[in-house]
Amino acid sequence: MCGIVCYKGSLDAKNVIIEGLERLEYRGYDSAGVSLIDNGKMETIKRSGKLSNLKDTLKDYKINSNIGIGHIRWATHGAPTDINSHPHLSNDGNISIVHNGIIENFKELKDELIEEGYHFVSSTDTEVIAVLISKYYNGDLLEAVQKARKDLKGSYALGVLAQSEPDRLICLREESPLILGITDNGVILGSDIPSLLKYTNNVIYLENGDLVDCKNGYTIYDSNDNVVDREIKEIKWSLEDASKEGYDHFMIKEIFEQPKAISDCLRNKVIDKKIDLGDASFSKEEIEKINRIYIVACGTANYAGNIGKYCFEKFTQIPVTNEIASEFRYADPIIDENTLLILVSQSGETADTLAALREGKKHGATTVVVTNVVGSSIDREADKSIYCLAGPEIAVASTKAYTTQVMSLYILALDFAIKTNKISQEKLDDILNEIIKLPQKIQEILDNTDIIKKYAKEIKDYESVFYIGRGLDYYSVIEGALKLKEVSYIHAESFAAGELKHGTIALIEKDTPVIAVATQEKIIDKTISNVEEVISRGAKVFAICGKSCEKLEESSYIYYRLPDTIDSLYPILTVIPEQLLAYYTSLEKGLDVDKPRNLAKSVTVE
Ligand code: AGP
Ligand code: GLU
Repeated sequence: MCGIVCYKGSLDAKNVIIEGLERLEYRGYDSAGVSLIDNGKMETIKRSGKLSNLKDTLKDYKINSNIGIGHIRWATHGAPTDINSHPHLSNDGNISIVHNGIIENFKELKDELIEEGYHFVSSTDTEVIAVLISKYYNGDLLEAVQKARKDLKGSYALGVLAQSEPDRLICLREESPLILGITDNGVILGSDIPSLLKYTNNVIYLENGDLVDCKNGYTIYDSNDNVVDREIKEIKWSLEDASKEGYDHFMIKEIFEQPKAISDCLRNKVIDKKIDLGDASFSKEEIEKINRIYIVACGTANYAGNIGKYCFEKFTQIPVTNEIASEFRYADPIIDENTLLILVSQSGETADTLAALREGKKHGATTVVVTNVVGSSIDREADKSIYCLAGPEIAVASTKAYTTQVMSLYILALDFAIKTNKISQEKLDDILNEIIKLPQKIQEILDNTDIIKKYAKEIKDYESVFYIGRGLDYYSVIEGALKLKEVSYIHAESFAAGELKHGTIALIEKDTPVIAVATQEKIIDKTISNVEEVISRGAKVFAICGKSCEKLEESSYIYYRLPDTIDSLYPILTVIPEQLLAYYTSLEKGLDVDKPRNLAKSVTVE
């Protein structure tokens, strides 16, 4: 998600806020806007597209203001249009807010407020916050915000202004990051350090539930509305470092963001342990009409599609083929009105995937996209869209987009299965109970990277590395091999473990590095036999294991034990050590891990 910048002080608020938004641009965005109060009058200017569109528009305004709020948007609800851009206003125009995050219960709040006679102009979740504050407003903005936030569910970093209180700025934080910068001439609040580093090194990392009332200086209230003191910290980062928020590269930052990315991905798909895909939901009748599913994508997104194929066939018994988009579009595929095309694309701009979508629509297929970019071309052209909500992915090598794509495909398959009674409610509850534990399990893996760093040092000079696995583990090693190739330039080949002995095992010799993934209980003995085959020929095996792999603890060179989960969910966990291995190997080779040679983040050409 993108970010907010809010300011109150003696400097020109417009300049401070725009400069802060410029520092947030690296996070990706699709629109931007500001509200500024000048001599008691509040002006709100907002534009879709690049930040430069807003800056150009602001040139036509003569505003002298020392208080304002600004937003750079990464849309989650509502396409990136002018009207959906932030700030959003209350019906009477008195309240203006900017929001970073997702309001989970916005639909029920919106319905209630419409019932009470309020109206809405945008299709965002955010607008309900402005209307809600206005509903509670009785001349005291602090009181109104404290009441309104009790109705909100979800994640939010908010900046709030009221024209009727022109010298008051209120900000609050729940889940989405928000930092309070203390300056000699006022206060600046931003979604991350870069947005305020030009003006101060003295910051307070606000905690969940903190509300900052900037009327006379600043007062911080906790989630129970008690006044609290928070420690002021001094930032020693450079501006360049800060955009990676303390990480050395975007790739490692995005690997470590996966617990939150998975939580955010689930936030608007599984509510109170019930699946609700909102506008992307298929009815029972729509599902029963489908007799063929194609999942179509490129690269890592195509590999996520392998897991999707497994999920749909296991949970719904509908036949699925996972297709490479550049092949699919020229293969004269069998498509009719009973065909469902599931496109998967982080950027939503990949030319081959977009072309596959159009090919499918031309022949009457229903199309749904799993994407990380609201308002992207594929999002706009698909019949339905499911959003990963992973936040901007900057590194060329896809990590958090992959795991949230896989997560979204699981949820879609489970929704189809429960609606057509292919699985029981009890079975669904069991699976969802395991799914909501995944962020913590990913974190456990991220907390133990030393053994992976060690192995990266050992394989960095090899010309070839092999990845093997069976079933879902095979799908995982296909993605693992691509990660290593992309960022370390080592030739990595993935194989179905049972296939090795049909030729490729001839390449295994003493010390050949082999990464083996072994998690699928019902075939674990077969996988272990295949691992033993390569070990007996001298391979040094890094075994990424689930349960029942004790045999490999003695025989493998490195035995990496994953947290337990159910077999069908292991792909969300097995890919994490693979991502880390690729990243650390690239570092060992001194390569540009965020921008590997020959690659682009989005391949918008054939
Ligand atoms: C993944 O690490 C690569 N950068 C690449 O394979 C990517 O997944 C592929 O180009 C598809 O991109 P998309 O998801 O934006 O459509
Ligand atoms: N959910 C809000 C929207 O879609 C905020 C998105 C963001 O964090 O940029 O407008």
